[in-house]
Amino acid sequence: MSQYTKRILITGGAGFIGSHVVRLFVKKYPQYLIVNLDALTYAGNLENLKDVDQSPNYLFELGDIKDEVKVDEIFAKHSIDHVIHLAAESHVDRSIMDPLAFVKTNVLGTTVLLNACKKNWRNNFDGKLFYQVSTDEVYGTLGETGFFTEETPYDPRSPYSASKAAADHFVMAYHHTYHLPVIISNCSNNYGSFHFPEKLIPLMINNIRNSKPLPVYGKGDNVRDWLWVEDHARAIDTIFHKGKTGEKYNIGGFNEWKNIDLVKFLCKLMDKKLGRPLGQSEKLITYVTDRPGHDQRYAIDASKLNRELGWKPSLQFEEGLEKTVDWYLANEEWVKHVTSGEYQKYYSDQYAKR
Ligand code: NAD
Ligand code: TYD
Repeated sequence: MSQYTKRILITGGAGFIGSHVVRLFVKKYPQYLIVNLDALTYAGNLENLKDVDQSPNYLFELGDIKDEVKVDEIFAKHSIDHVIHLAAESHVDRSIMDPLAFVKTNVLGTTVLLNACKKNWRNNFDGKLFYQVSTDEVYGTLGETGFFTEETPYDPRSPYSASKAAADHFVMAYHHTYHLPVIISNCSNNYGSFHFPEKLIPLMINNIRNSKPLPVYGKGDNVRDWLWVEDHARAIDTIFHKGKTGEKYNIGGFNEWKNIDLVKFLCKLMDKKLGRPLGQSEKLITYVTDRPGHDQRYAIDASKLNRELGWKPSLQFEEGLEKTVDWYLANEEWVKHVTSGEYQKYYSDQYAKR
């Protein structure tokens, strides 16, 4: 008899959101075995897990979710009975540069995992679950009003969101065709510690600190809904334990911001933290060529999750941003480490031409 009541494979656990999910599960559930499968791409970093990697209920497996042999081996070796799938190529701008990488990891990789569940669980799905962590971007874009609900039809418009939408469709196809127990959650933009500085908030924090230009795409009037990453991890915990199989749940912060307002807020906050005269960092704002096909507005209606499972965000955005800025200022070494090497080339390819 296993000493563990669940044996969970978490994919992408060395990334931004995945590391917070691994940390929460390892600490909160010593009775579960947590196996983290990650390929350690530019976005994956084992430093993100330093505080839990010696825990007896945690194991790391280096590997690619596209590698069928490796995935099968992990299922067998650890008698995996649950999957929380976060591994992905996750950055829209990179998907515009290299869409095929997104098809390979997000579509093929997800289907390899689904197939591994079907094969290794031998069509006996009692006590099993495949949990797909997805994004609100699969719903497309909104005008000035309205919200994405769980019934909103998928209408992805970037190679990233198209690859996540395709993956979600495969997840539901395995549910309908083979009765694989699945759950999908679609979350809005996350922010917080360990966020790779290619995404808006950590990129701006890093550039403000280094007095570098702050590249705002287009007019800066695109709107995103922001959620603190630890609240996303809490939502995943809630849905994993209480969600109904075959269902989808939207997760969001009820917290919409125009990009330019958010960047100006960060400038003011960091002027204060860095002891700079108020208004100094705002001078770094530089409007650059817009992202092709830039989705105008995302806004998520997370009321089903609140109504049915009782989850709601714990932090106000202003408080979460301050915590995040403090974390980045206190963790300069982490930032230096992840922005050396590959990041430098990405940054000049991405921003030099704008
Ligand atoms: P991230 O880019 O920070 O991390 C992705 C992780 O997956 C990295 O550790 C990377 O090494 C790993 N990985 C990539 N390709 C792999 C492969 N082929 N095999 C194994 N591991 C691989 O991403 P994130 O922001 O933490 O997002 C995690 C998940 O959450 C993704 O599925 C993403 O679509 C979804 N999501 C993200 C957000 C957001 O705001 N960041 C919002 C909603 C949903
Ligand atoms: P991002 O963090 O890439 O998330 P997503 O595109 O998945 O929502 O971008 C958030 C918003 O910020 C988006 O509207 C694009 C914009 N943006 C900039 O204006 N400048 C930047 O340098 C980046 C990375 C993003």
